[in-house]
Amino acid sequence: MPDANDRPAADIHTSSKDAAGAPLGTAADTSEVFQPSEEVISAAHIKDWEKTREDALKDPVAFWSERARELDWYEPWTTALDDSEAPFYKWFTGGKTNVVLNALDRHMNTATKNKIAFIWEGENGDQRTMSFFRLRQEVNKFANVLKSMGVKKGDRVTIYMGRIMEIVIAMLATVKIGAVHSVVYGGFSTEALAERIEDARSRVLITADGAWIRGKTVKLKNIADDAVARSGYVEHVIVVKRTGEDVNMEAARDYWYHDLMALPIASPVCETEVMDAEDPLFILYTSGTTGRPKGVLHTHGGYQVTISTTLKWVFDIKDEDRWWCAADPGWITGHSYIVYGPLIVGATSFLYEGAPDFPYPDRWWKLVEQYGITTLYTAPTAIRGLMRFGESWPQRHDLSSLRILGTVGEPINPEAWKWYHKVIGGDRCPIMDTWWQTETGGHMITPLPVTPLKPGSGTKPFPGIDMDVVREDGSTCSPNEEGKLVIKQPWPGMLRTVYGDPERYVQQYWSEFKSQGWYLTGDSARKDEDGYIWIIGRLDDVIKVAGYRLGTAEIESALVSHPSVSEAAVIGVPDEVKGNAIHAFCIPKAGGAKPTEEVLKKHVREEMGPIAVPAKIELVDKLPKTRSGKIMRRVLRAKALGQDVGDLSTMED
Ligand code: WTA
Repeated sequence: MPDANDRPAADIHTSSKDAAGAPLGTAADTSEVFQPSEEVISAAHIKDWEKTREDALKDPVAFWSERARELDWYEPWTTALDDSEAPFYKWFTGGKTNVVLNALDRHMNTATKNKIAFIWEGENGDQRTMSFFRLRQEVNKFANVLKSMGVKKGDRVTIYMGRIMEIVIAMLATVKIGAVHSVVYGGFSTEALAERIEDARSRVLITADGAWIRGKTVKLKNIADDAVARSGYVEHVIVVKRTGEDVNMEAARDYWYHDLMALPIASPVCETEVMDAEDPLFILYTSGTTGRPKGVLHTHGGYQVTISTTLKWVFDIKDEDRWWCAADPGWITGHSYIVYGPLIVGATSFLYEGAPDFPYPDRWWKLVEQYGITTLYTAPTAIRGLMRFGESWPQRHDLSSLRILGTVGEPINPEAWKWYHKVIGGDRCPIMDTWWQTETGGHMITPLPVTPLKPGSGTKPFPGIDMDVVREDGSTCSPNEEGKLVIKQPWPGMLRTVYGDPERYVQQYWSEFKSQGWYLTGDSARKDEDGYIWIIGRLDDVIKVAGYRLGTAEIESALVSHPSVSEAAVIGVPDEVKGNAIHAFCIPKAGGAKPTEEVLKKHVREEMGPIAVPAKIELVDKLPKTRSGKIMRRVLRAKALGQDVGDLSTMED
């Protein structure tokens, strides 16, 4: 299934003559500045960006506490930041809340109750709208269903679905009763899903029969069946009917969502569980340097403060807006800026099920026009993909409703930025290039609408966020010197741990600059003479492919799980649309038949999902390794790019 990060152009063939095809990596001009218009400034929540940043940095804890007071709490907190067990920071301890209290319940006392929360369109043109009131009713009903299945506070529930309203309902219902969701992106496949179910030990899985993508269906229930058989924790599977295909329903294990929602137990009245600020809210698995994905854990109290403040300030959300975050609810962008953030700020959101270019490359632009979208948030890869079809597609549509644009997930090359600004934004809409991570919960480096923009830079940290680009020894880099991007002070939306693996949390994020107590982002960056931050890329074995975060080790382990492969190495190489493409090198097992590239691609697709399929797989006899046996990916990368392989003194032979 696609999202904004999906491969809009990956399997599309454009015949357009004016296809731009911007080369990646074109050097950015750090002196080129786009100033905000008077109109943007007069509409903005925050008018003085630098002063707001400066004031907030004087006392970030006070700044965030003030933001937290804008939300509802059953009981106020006693300590805003407890750092007594750093790096296991706690925010708003003693406070009682629930994200659902702020996302739904509190709106029942205001006019927001009658506002549209979601406008949804299916790929096939189906439409659905839901008010805040109605959404809350559906959430309550489903929360009662989950309770009746024995789901209790603290239990984990895995959700594996396409972009339909029920994924939002399922997430909120889980949280409402104090359970913890683990949403697995619908573009993942059997092994990836099984592994995530197992790590979370979920007894309940919520899925759908299938999902629509490019006029075809993804057989989610079949994949879910295989994953459930492999992982062995799941007792109940709840299945939403979306495609209407025949699926296997196992008696006493599998239930149709609509059957359950029609039962008398599915009452629209349900108390929201009162949670401690630090109680777990959700687990979201993300790729790191080992083969096992990390379960990033977020909690109720701080997360809601970070995401609601950033959404409101960065995208300047107002009552009259129609907000479209074109990501997938299965990624952090979807959690924070499709589900929780917009609901907390009471925004009207648009949610679209399908591919950006289906049935024609103007689908997105048609949707913007048809629904009067005012704020559009997507990924550079989607922009580059759609840009390849040429200007004539967006030009067929009236995009004048747009006011603010945004990007996330990877660096945006200045060409794509300018195309987005001119062709989509009509030279009128500022572009919010937001840098953040699954771990940070919400935006960290981002402009506000009033910020002077430089194409390709996310500008500076959000108010109350303290970041820097530093050398190995922790000293601040000189202007334009490349260094490590670090976060110097805790923030409310930060991850609290790696689920079930606190050591990995400490090791991964807090060990490199332990004495300073800084969080390591894993990105390299530079700061220009104006203090604007330019992201260069990942320093670890994480590859961003079409905005998807994938670990080389995960793909390698999928490859070696094929019986004919004995060893594998995976690298990312630059790609015009996807940012990076995956190249794999495999050593076939001795004695057996050599696998074909097609067979191996199919295997990765079945195990990991379509997003992890390498663009190219080469069979080799040997892989470059250090004497300690570590694969030297940099050597493979240099060879693949025809560059100098550099120092080989540590290579085994
Ligand atoms: C990269 C996505 C440049 C970065 C919300 C980060 C970016 C990783 C940007 C996190 C951006 C995200 N400019 N790079 N605006 N946004 N990244 O966890 O490398 O999927 O560390 O979170 O994406 O990816 P994740």
